[in-house]
Amino acid sequence: MKITIMGAGYVGLVAATCFANFGIKVCCLDKDPDKINLLNSGKIHIHEPGLEELVWKNLSNGNLRFSTDPRELAEGNLLIIAVGTPQAEDGSANLAYIHSAIDDIANHCTTDKFIIIKSTVPIGTAKMISEQLKLKKPELNFEMISNPEFLKEGDALRDFLNPDRIVIGCTSEEAKNMAKSLYTPLTSKNVPIVFTNNTTAELIKYSSNSYLAMRIAFINEIADIAELIGANIEEVADGIGSDTRIGRHYLHPGPGYGGSCFPKDTAALAKFAHDQNSPLAIIDAVISSNKTRQEKMANRIAKIVGSSKQAIPLAFLGLTFKADTDDIRESPAINIIQYLAALGYKIRAFDPSNPREARQTLPKTVEICDNLEAALKDSAAAVIMTEWSEFKLIAPETFLALLAQPIVIDLRNIYSPQTMRQAGVNYYSVGR
Ligand SMILES: NC(=O)c1ccc[n+]([C@@H]2O[C@H](COP(=O)([O-])OP(=O)(O)OC[C@H]3O[C@@H](n4cnc5c(N)ncnc54)[C@H](O)[C@@H]3O)[C@@H](O)[C@H]2O)c1
Repeated sequence: MKITIMGAGYVGLVAATCFANFGIKVCCLDKDPDKINLLNSGKIHIHEPGLEELVWKNLSNGNLRFSTDPRELAEGNLLIIAVGTPQAEDGSANLAYIHSAIDDIANHCTTDKFIIIKSTVPIGTAKMISEQLKLKKPELNFEMISNPEFLKEGDALRDFLNPDRIVIGCTSEEAKNMAKSLYTPLTSKNVPIVFTNNTTAELIKYSSNSYLAMRIAFINEIADIAELIGANIEEVADGIGSDTRIGRHYLHPGPGYGGSCFPKDTAALAKFAHDQNSPLAIIDAVISSNKTRQEKMANRIAKIVGSSKQAIPLAFLGLTFKADTDDIRESPAINIIQYLAALGYKIRAFDPSNPREARQTLPKTVEICDNLEAALKDSAAAVIMTEWSEFKLIAPETFLALLAQPIVIDLRNIYSPQTMRQAGVNYYSVGR
């Protein structure tokens, strides 16, 4: 088997590397020559634990290649689309990259192909791609397989290699068999496959992400109540989560969900449902709750430090939307910093992954520091935005020694309130 993957981002690069590691010959294409040059030198452009080593191994044994040349699409009989589907202005998914992938396929394929769609795409996209290709290339047969990806950044390899399930949406037995043989190394470890049609597979992906976003919005709202009445949200989450019907995952209160998936996927599902005249009141409420959450957290920080502190910088620890990634897309940290910077707060920020896009995204007035100490030194308060392990290890004495005043606002609940307060830190966390 030979595969060509379109897109060397968080999903395409992980999929290409893992399939190559199964022993399949994989060519991973990207439009961005800088990414491809770097990848061909064995280095990766994203922060993903363990991935660079696996890329290097499979580049060295010849299973994995990288290229910018779309003529590679002529090779083999299996293509995988893993290009981005960002949010458009009206909330729907912007399919510009999908359309550019369709053009490349039509322009360069010379034989019949199975096309796996790994990108998260709106309901009806597999049908649309199939119809477009039929129009552009009537002499060839393209068989669509919807195979949404469920990996989490930061745990991408583990998730890809040990998924809870693989979802395959297709219509023919041939497509089903192709998918089965591709995933044999996983199904032989008893990973289940859910076989369905393309539309259902597309809906499964949007529903999964919307459901997880809903759990986060839910626990954030319960955290507000907990705070009001003097309850402890972490114990509430333990109490709820130990019910096996519910589970503990995605019940961590914080500054709201962010990242490259939940915000755009909830928005796209809500927009799709509105367009179908069948609005999803729950998802509309989740989106609105999450937006309010970030404003609420920004106002809370402002209230704690007070307007008189606008001259002294606030130290933001963490810019990424979660730990173990360098992805700042829709990160609550970025949104909250932008909000406070607009109110006139001086801000310093440090993130261990040194995210590439941070400088272009943050206001010019925000100072990006090279290390933790530089961010904390003489700042008015520390605000914990991302649950990086190295932040969890900061001792209260470090805050006491470096900050101008001992204020720590922990929006991820990574410290023990008792330890912090006993050490003399003015400690604020979420819902406890
Ligand atoms: N990031 C995640 O955690 C995650 C998880 C599950 C699903 N998804 C979905 O997977 C898709 C990809 O997400 P991502 O985060 O990897 O995106 P990304 O932006 O990191 O990567 C997409 C890549 O595709 C390239 N590209 C665009 N058009 C191309 C073309 N015609 N040919 C070759 N390359 C092309 C871009 O240059 C870019 O490098 C999205 O639909 C996303 O919703 C993402």
